Amino acid sequence: MIRIDSVTKRYPDGTVAVDRLSLDIPDRSITVLVGPSGCGKTTTLRMINRMVEPTEGTILLDGKDVTQQPVNTLRRSMGYVIQNAGLFQHRTILDNIATVPRLLGWGKDRARGRARELMERVGLDAALAKRYPYQLSGGQQQRVGVARALAADPPVLLMDEPFSAVDPVVRKGLQDELLRIQAELGKTIVFVTHDIDEAVKLGTMVAVLRTGGRLAQYAPPAELLSAPADAFVEDFLGADRGIRRLSFFPATDLALLTTPIVAVDATAEQIAARATGETPYLLVTGLDGRPLGWSAPHELTAGSIDPGRLLSHGRPFVPGTDSLRAALDCAVLSPTGWAVAVGADGRVTGVVSQQTIAEAIRGAHAAVPADAPAAAPPSLSKGGPSDAKVAG
Ligand SMILES: Nc1ncnc2c1ncn2[C@@H]1O[C@H](COP(=O)(O)OP(=O)(O)OP(=O)(O)O)[C@@H](O)[C@H]1O
Ligand SMILES: [Mg+2]
Repeated sequence: MIRIDSVTKRYPDGTVAVDRLSLDIPDRSITVLVGPSGCGKTTTLRMINRMVEPTEGTILLDGKDVTQQPVNTLRRSMGYVIQNAGLFQHRTILDNIATVPRLLGWGKDRARGRARELMERVGLDAALAKRYPYQLSGGQQQRVGVARALAADPPVLLMDEPFSAVDPVVRKGLQDELLRIQAELGKTIVFVTHDIDEAVKLGTMVAVLRTGGRLAQYAPPAELLSAPADAFVEDFLGADRGIRRLSFFPATDLALLTTPIVAVDATAEQIAARATGETPYLLVTGLDGRPLGWSAPHELTAGSIDPGRLLSHGRPFVPGTDSLRAALDCAVLSPTGWAVAVGADGRVTGVVSQQTIAEAIRGAHAAVPADAPAAAPPSLSKGGPSDAKVAG
């Protein structure tokens, strides 16, 4: 949909902000531009909606040169979101969001109706509609910025470090929300960040730029992590890229053990039958099937198992939706070195050792040549456990 073809931007003072950049930005997905400060990310984004004109090269939108299109028409087909949201301080939240529909000539009621719909879509309480931007938290303002950009339903969203001014917890919420909105609305999003974790979490494709506005690598995140093009990209990805790459392998096929598990009301015979020596510990579950904690078998007395005296079971993982990274994390944090697997309903489905996970990791790497991308199954969250994405 958007093709950047050998584009260079030289500012009047001679600064080359972007140097012969070529990128094909796929439809209906999130493409991330990432790189150190001053590498030309904002300049590139602004050339797409003609806030900055290229010195050389062309940018095509649906095959048409953007410089041949009226700038107003072009900008209305592209929502634009910036850091700190850039809201109109003297307008209410509702009227901020209704700005573009009003410019397009919609009646007040229709525009406000649309704005209310969008508030819900981006997770804003309807009660905030009449407030002014200064009466909102940074994260809420950022949501308003996204809603405003979506108001006229443009096919393209340009986002320049939209989440970088908020704290990590709020930021994670905004990222998850963006992934959800993207899945629902199928917008073509070009997203700028200097945070590689954010890039890997959000991007279908990630363009890593280096200072001087040159493209270092353009690839899906799993491929970046498995095969960085050069030392610059490798350095930019950080020291733990091997661990992060595990986010792209599902935990579905891990061999779970179901023997070393007893219910809290187990009889002495049941405890004895379960203590087979496969594991030094037994996992005790409640009557509802949820995990309570670990114990050495000889410390369990039938009829009087005290959940308060068990070793913590740690955070469980969900094999159907979590990655090998999440499973490994659970095992590493578990006091017994064993991870607990649960179903979507929270009931225990089995336990698995660090060693078994390590074997699965070796198997996953072997199945994917080092220079080929690991395909992320559609159902797999790219982060860690589904309740706490850790890749981003
Ligand atoms: N109007 C301008 N005139 C001259 N140089 C400019 C202008 N705007 C940007 N630059 C320079 O172009 C280069 C790229 O700037 P740009 O804003 O695109 O970087 P960026 O990757 O968005 O950086 P950051 O992560 O800090 O936002 C920088 O060296 C910057 O100083
Ligand atoms: Mg910038």
